[in-house]
Amino acid sequence: MKKTVLAYSGGLDTSVLVKIIKEKYDSEVIAVTVDVGQQENLPKIRKKAIAIGAVKALIIDARHEFADSYIAPALKANALYEGVYPLATALARPLIVKKLVDTAREYSAAYIGHGCTGKGNDQVRFEAAIACLDPMISVIAPVREFGLSRDYEIEYAHQNNIPVEERLVTYSLDENLWGRSIECGVLENEACEPPNDAFAWTLSPFDAPNYAAYLEIEFEAGIPVSLNNKRMLFAELISELNRIGGLHGVGRIDHIESRLVGIKSREVYEAPAAVILIKAHQDLEKLVLTKDLLHFKPYLETTYADMIYNGLWFSPLRNALSAFFDEGQKNVNGKVIAKLFKGNVNIVGRASANSLYIKNLATYQGHDDFDVSSSKGFIDIWSLPFKVNAMINNGAKPGNGNQVHAPENALENEELLDAAK
Ligand code: ARG
Repeated sequence: MKKTVLAYSGGLDTSVLVKIIKEKYDSEVIAVTVDVGQQENLPKIRKKAIAIGAVKALIIDARHEFADSYIAPALKANALYEGVYPLATALARPLIVKKLVDTAREYSAAYIGHGCTGKGNDQVRFEAAIACLDPMISVIAPVREFGLSRDYEIEYAHQNNIPVEERLVTYSLDENLWGRSIECGVLENEACEPPNDAFAWTLSPFDAPNYAAYLEIEFEAGIPVSLNNKRMLFAELISELNRIGGLHGVGRIDHIESRLVGIKSREVYEAPAAVILIKAHQDLEKLVLTKDLLHFKPYLETTYADMIYNGLWFSPLRNALSAFFDEGQKNVNGKVIAKLFKGNVNIVGRASANSLYIKNLATYQGHDDFDVSSSKGFIDIWSLPFKVNAMINNGAKPGNGNQVHAPENALENEELLDAAK
């Protein structure tokens, strides 16, 4: 019998698929659940897949790989889709696909299956990543191919004794170390504030403590390595920040999002660690990067975030951009102090051995090392092109009532004009 490696989350879509794939594709199902830090009972999810009829159910622990090889490059690039979404779901997809492809090869599976609908980004991410890693593997997408609606799936689950959790009916959820994505149900009314039951990681800022938390985060080459002077693995540090940030109501995001497939959708996220770390990282970069690199980098950051969102993680351009970001992070070392208070995170202090901030240059008080006498010559040359432009194009235009006289030294001006030709 043919085999299908199914990306299995234990949720509504993928649970009904275990049975539907057997029926419709005449294929055994190997359920693969990749642990990317979702706070779920994975052994229970594994048992559920077997109970529904999978011939094998694997849990693959990829938390550290996710943190070190997917989140870390995204953090170096301050990756935020449309300026706000830290890309939790989008970043985990390529890693999940990598594990699916490895498993499909190991078990000589004919297909890789996923439970994405035909309207979302995730179908694109799954299938584009598979095409990049192994163009010979066929993909099946039963939810799309048979137009399975959520209502149909709930009914099918009840008829086939497939347990459905209440919260999975209320919302469509996806969760990993870098954040929690919440969709569907009442959230589809974009005019209404998300109800509190949509959130699982964060307290409402209203209920958050009345005191602030101060966090000292140390970075090495753009990556956080310690929290409050305690060295931690990156994955652990992220979990800890999710916990503390959540307690202080930090990291709720309510976003009208432009999907790759052309639809606008209302998306709600919780991402305390991502929000804190991107802010802290951006602040440290301001201290240590030269102005030109600091100002140029955001152009590529936007491209990078778009590529992650659009499912092109395994593309040559994404790799090349990563090499650019790695190179630019060599001096991003130092400590940042983040203050969390009732849903806000503010960076209130920073220090680095690579700091380009020299107090004796910047100070307005007393003696300094800045030679103000150089400023005049600098300003003359800096404004020269605009002075010339103003003389030629503004002053000299007839009829503007502001006729300019020939410069006193007309010869010099002619030389200038000749040189410009
Ligand atoms: N809109 C987000 C994205 O495209 C999140 C998708 C989350 N998926 C879900 N099943 N809730 O990355």
